[in-house]
Amino acid sequence: MTTSSAAFPFIVKDCGLNVVEFINVDPVIDGSHKAIGALNILSRKFKGIVFTLPQECSLTADVEPQLKQISEKTSLRLVFQNTSQVPFAIDFTEAFCHTEDAVASIKSSLVIARVIKDFADVTPFRTSALNILDLLKQPDISFDKIQKGIIDEPLLVARILQVANSAFYMRRNPVDNIENALAYLGLEGIRQVLVQLIFQSLATKYFAHQKDKLVHGECCAHLAVKLAERKTKDLMTLGKIRVAGLLHDVGALALQFCYQDEYTRTMNEALTQKTSIIEVERSIFGTDHCQVGARLSSEWKLPDYVKTCASDHHSIASSQFDKIVRPVICANAFLNTAIDKLPGLDFSPLAREFSITPNISDNEARMELLAFFTETMKSFTPEQG
Ligand SMILES: [Fe+2]
Ligand SMILES: [Fe+2]
Repeated sequence: MTTSSAAFPFIVKDCGLNVVEFINVDPVIDGSHKAIGALNILSRKFKGIVFTLPQECSLTADVEPQLKQISEKTSLRLVFQNTSQVPFAIDFTEAFCHTEDAVASIKSSLVIARVIKDFADVTPFRTSALNILDLLKQPDISFDKIQKGIIDEPLLVARILQVANSAFYMRRNPVDNIENALAYLGLEGIRQVLVQLIFQSLATKYFAHQKDKLVHGECCAHLAVKLAERKTKDLMTLGKIRVAGLLHDVGALALQFCYQDEYTRTMNEALTQKTSIIEVERSIFGTDHCQVGARLSSEWKLPDYVKTCASDHHSIASSQFDKIVRPVICANAFLNTAIDKLPGLDFSPLAREFSITPNISDNEARMELLAFFTETMKSFTPEQG
């Protein structure tokens, strides 16, 4: 932090992630004021600047073109209380009343932009798997069209057959060619297989050093499916729950990949302060892994239920995908508390949905689910190395 003096009539505070807060101290700032020169220099060095005007400070009209130029070089936000402090229209940047909101706004846009950029070329299957996933969104898509899209990609065919024959999908006979795989899995099954393939290649290419988190995703998927099986036997619903469980923390995996040091600090703070990971993420990144996961899911055009689960798994929000997301919310909350030793979401309001004991309270249902999860953990074996 820089303290103010006559030579430097402003204060500069480091906000992390290459963002600074620049606090003005003189009562009037015109275009020739030292603060504007300093802002210009800082704009070449920092990715984001929050320009704070305390209540007793104001700008003159000739500052506008200079601020406009500065906003072209860095991510700029203004903080002030009264419109009289800034006598021009601010159409080139955003204004806030509170510094924390301005810092979070810059950080979240920088973080999301970086994550999107780092994962622009996501998988070796990118073109084919994502294209076919896109193709599957067409209402009149035929098996024939999909087969044509897949057939020229032997690696993809091999992986689809491998997944189709995995323990989860192969409930009857082995599938030995793509025609049978399509007929057996159906459009929804193929969609699930493709999402899993995309995720597996992401895991291999980007997340290989995050074994704990990958195993957490697998375990969450396992527990969520077993929980849902208490109420449904529908293989396609269970398949979606599995996919949603596997990918629910894709935002955390991406954040950790892009910001390794900061994410380690985030985890340590959450552990030592017994605070929710979401809150610590927001204070460090201006955003959280739920928002990042939802954004990545959109970017990759993953199915809507995957996006909703990535975005909602730390809250009890209701959506059209409750049947898929809720088992994941409960399983994840259990794992956060029991394994990660972090404060987990209280899932009591959802517990009765999955209880097999009639007429019990929310809390009794939660206890029943905790016992169920503890027991079900014993049958979990991770695929990750
Ligand atoms: Fe999470
Ligand atoms: Fe999680």
